[in-house]
Amino acid sequence: MKNITIAIDGFSSTGKSTIAKELATKLKYVYVDSGAMYRAVTLYAMQHNLISEEFFLKERLIDELDNIKLAFMFNPDLGFGEIYLNDVNVETEIRNMKVSRLVSKVAEIPEIRKKLVEQQQQMGINKSVVMDGRDIGTVVFPDAELKIFMTASAEKRAKRRFDEFVERGEQVTFDETLKNVEYRDHIDTSRKDSPLVKAKDAIEIDNSTLTRKEQFEKVYKLALEIIESN
Ligand code: CDP
Repeated sequence: MKNITIAIDGFSSTGKSTIAKELATKLKYVYVDSGAMYRAVTLYAMQHNLISEEFFLKERLIDELDNIKLAFMFNPDLGFGEIYLNDVNVETEIRNMKVSRLVSKVAEIPEIRKKLVEQQQQMGINKSVVMDGRDIGTVVFPDAELKIFMTASAEKRAKRRFDEFVERGEQVTFDETLKNVEYRDHIDTSRKDSPLVKAKDAIEIDNSTLTRKEQFEKVYKLALEIIESN
């Protein structure tokens, strides 16, 4: 049995994290949600009045990067690591619409990407990791043995994300959610540093019409083929 690295990239709300968590649990691998790290840095910037819809003090945020400590702590009840920002659990707070509106602006900054990519590479140094994000197969782990690129129509994705917001009791409309998904797709694919693009050797899965189970079976089978090969 080989220890491998699994990179799952794709557009916003394609269900990457659901499949990545399921896969990590089944394989007894570590799951890392790289998007949570960009979201936590965004939350820090919001808490310190460095960013809002109207302004962004980029240089100040870059200067403060050393004050931002991120860590994942495994929660046995959930079966995955929750993110801590300077020792505070922010797993729920980073998912709100306010953070979602600003995160892609923060994720465009090369200095921030560099710092987070280094941490992500460190977390995957022993392999046996499933990481999801936008640049995992292209930049973080270009040598990952299995790369998945997930897509689905913007409407499907927005519906999924909207249902999550409703479940958490957040007051947002479907239209706002769809706009946010499209807005982030645009920034994430057009930014200069590490844009969201399918790695040449990634396997594309459009899950618009796949059930969660079908999608999992497909990726699990691909992972096992590599793990059990010589
Ligand atoms: O869960 P969702 O698909 O909404 O997004 P996420 O994975 O939580 O990522 C939030 C944002 O962080 C993305 O829209 C990107 O702007 C940024 N991100 C990134 O630039 N690179 C990554 N590896 C992961 C996320």
